[in-house]
Amino acid sequence: MTMDCRSDDGNPSPRPMESLHRLIFADAARMGELEKKSIDLVVTSPPYPMIEMWDDLFCAADGEIKTALKQSDADSAFKKMHGLLDKVWKELRRVVKPGGIVCINIGDATRTIAGRFRLFANHARIISAFGALGFDQLPAIIWRKTTNAPNKFMGSGMLPPSAYVTLEHEYVLIFRLGANRSFDTEEGKQARRQSAFFWEERNAWFSDVWFNLIGATQKLRNGNTRDRSGAYPFELPYRLINMFSLKGDTVLDPFLGTGTTMLAAMCAGRHSVGYEIDPEFQPVILEKVAGLPDIAHETVERRLKAHADFIRERSKNGGEIKNHNTFYNWPVITRQESELRLERVRQLQFIGNDRFRVTYGDKDAPKAEAVQPPIEENPPARGGRSISKGRQLELF
Ligand SMILES: C[S@@+](CC[C@H](N)C(=O)[O-])C[C@H]1O[C@@H](n2cnc3c(N)ncnc32)[C@H](O)[C@@H]1O
Repeated sequence: MTMDCRSDDGNPSPRPMESLHRLIFADAARMGELEKKSIDLVVTSPPYPMIEMWDDLFCAADGEIKTALKQSDADSAFKKMHGLLDKVWKELRRVVKPGGIVCINIGDATRTIAGRFRLFANHARIISAFGALGFDQLPAIIWRKTTNAPNKFMGSGMLPPSAYVTLEHEYVLIFRLGANRSFDTEEGKQARRQSAFFWEERNAWFSDVWFNLIGATQKLRNGNTRDRSGAYPFELPYRLINMFSLKGDTVLDPFLGTGTTMLAAMCAGRHSVGYEIDPEFQPVILEKVAGLPDIAHETVERRLKAHADFIRERSKNGGEIKNHNTFYNWPVITRQESELRLERVRQLQFIGNDRFRVTYGDKDAPKAEAVQPPIEENPPARGGRSISKGRQLELF
């Protein structure tokens, strides 16, 4: 399952490439469909412990959490909620390839329990869990989310000392399993060069503070699911996928929610697998995936236009531009960008309601189309599996 981007003579090829995507409604604490060491990159955001919108989910998974919250035993509730996430982190240790990367978007929580206001440092707890599993932590990103909400300042207002600092950021924690990946074959080296990003994108994306990511719609149209989805903006997984994987790699999101990571993987030419415990999300995910042709087109156009603007500005200011991209026939700053190419989605095919095939075309390909299935009246049963325990399903 490789994305062949080249013709026999070694030049960029107009031959169609494809990526495959699989949606699984089950508990990510047991990802039996995934073989060990099969995942190149994980991009995800779990339910946030001690944030009230996720209380019901945690309490349904472990009745002792409900008791702890009822008894105002904050430490025990926090510990047990993280105990549930730990089971998923442990599965990641099994399925991630050596050299694979895990990116986790997480926010801390503030909460008053038994009259005491305090911070629950989810990010710190997750860092220690990954350390214990043998992952190396890499520098993290602070995602700055400024808010104008009138209630953003907490505590005693203008009177010291019991006013509290606002929480206007979340984290993207980044871990690697073992040593760096190596790229020894010519095919691997080519895939790496074609997966490059622009120099000016590197400067923004690899900054440790991200501002102004376009927000996600939090409200869900489907009345059966929770009021708010906890979705992150498309730009967040899209950047991470481009930063930490290659075209043709497989990306996993064990907490898929509305399917943002899968959509981003489709746009970026990676395969993907998503687990979601709540089958009521199926129509929401299908609707999001069906938006692929438009978002893929807009994303490629936006990146190319931003590069053209950057080059124009740099030449106006007399900046040096020494290199050339052979695919676009455009100036670029470094030699590493000379084979960079952004994939254009040509077709999205639904294979049932849980598998999707995306075909990519060359730079002149017409705008994509979606071949859609009917949406099932009855969503899959919670946690349902189609195979007997212990057997590996053919993933795609
Ligand atoms: C913060 S949301 C993810 C939102 C997602 N990033 C998006 O953009 O839509 C977390 C999701 O994880 C799901 N979830 C919680 N526990 C799970 C588990 N054990 N296995 C699979 N999914 C789970 C929840 O139902 C929820 O949809």
